Amino acid sequence: MKKLFAVLGDPIGHSMSPIMLNDLFSFYNMDAVYLPFHVKDEDLHDAVKGLKAVGVGGFNVTVPHKSKIIPFLDGIDDLAANIGAVNTVVNENGQLIGYNTDGPGFLKGLSAILPQIEGQKVLIIGAGGAARAIYFTLAKEKPLKLDIANRTIENASGLIKECPYSVSSRACSFEEASATIGEYDLVIQTTLIGMSPKINEQPISLNNIRNHSVFCDIIYNPLETQFLKEAQQKGAVIQNGLDMFVYQGALAFEKWTGNFPDVERMRDNVLKQLGGRSC
Ligand code: ATR
Repeated sequence: MKKLFAVLGDPIGHSMSPIMLNDLFSFYNMDAVYLPFHVKDEDLHDAVKGLKAVGVGGFNVTVPHKSKIIPFLDGIDDLAANIGAVNTVVNENGQLIGYNTDGPGFLKGLSAILPQIEGQKVLIIGAGGAARAIYFTLAKEKPLKLDIANRTIENASGLIKECPYSVSSRACSFEEASATIGEYDLVIQTTLIGMSPKINEQPISLNNIRNHSVFCDIIYNPLETQFLKEAQQKGAVIQNGLDMFVYQGALAFEKWTGNFPDVERMRDNVLKQLGGRSC
């Protein structure tokens, strides 16, 4: 019988996960389908019960349900519990178990250009949901420091306080981060600045960056934000958000099927939809 996989979100029409995952199911000759479901907050519990009742194989969860879904699941793994957000649910013998593959997906994508986080000086820009997943995941990798710059400094300090993994961290303003940007080996942009309609904006000034440091933006549409363009012009190695997106999907696929998929195929497929070349 055909296995059902899904993604729940609001809105959901823009999601590229169905194209990416359905292609993998057909490439690996699996009798499975991956469907997007537009689910409003008030219907989330019923949607989860319904998916469980029909024996869903697993599903992804996207904005705005990543935290709200937790009480409706049968269990959750430690990293997802610490992050407080689930993006992947696996049906394990009738029990719906929540995981977070966003942070690990970012780390796996990054490893192609920066194989080791241990001992590195890292700055995360932003303190929202995506920053949280990345911060908690990187904190476990023993960076020398893991600072957060945010518009609202209290949100950055709150995130640092809640992290159970021991790491040297400081919360700072965008102005402070602009002044000290040359200290960092790795800088990760996680705010919405750079996406439409803020396409010509960037959160901090990059005047003082160091040659060959690594600059990532988790945005992948556009493929090259203003932040990445300027970082590259100033000699940084850059990575856009496509790798994080592809690897979070690859890790979800692995959890559902036991097989790690062909990520190059996934990347090419998403790029084709976006109509561009990656960096
Ligand atoms: P996500 O879940 O995608 O990470 P989010 O949780 O809404 O999104 O987080 C948004 C992040 O972008 C936060 O760091 C937010 O800063 P605040 O904590 O000060 O709200 C940041 N952000 C959003 N709009 C911004 C803007 N116009 N200028 C600066 N930072 C902004």
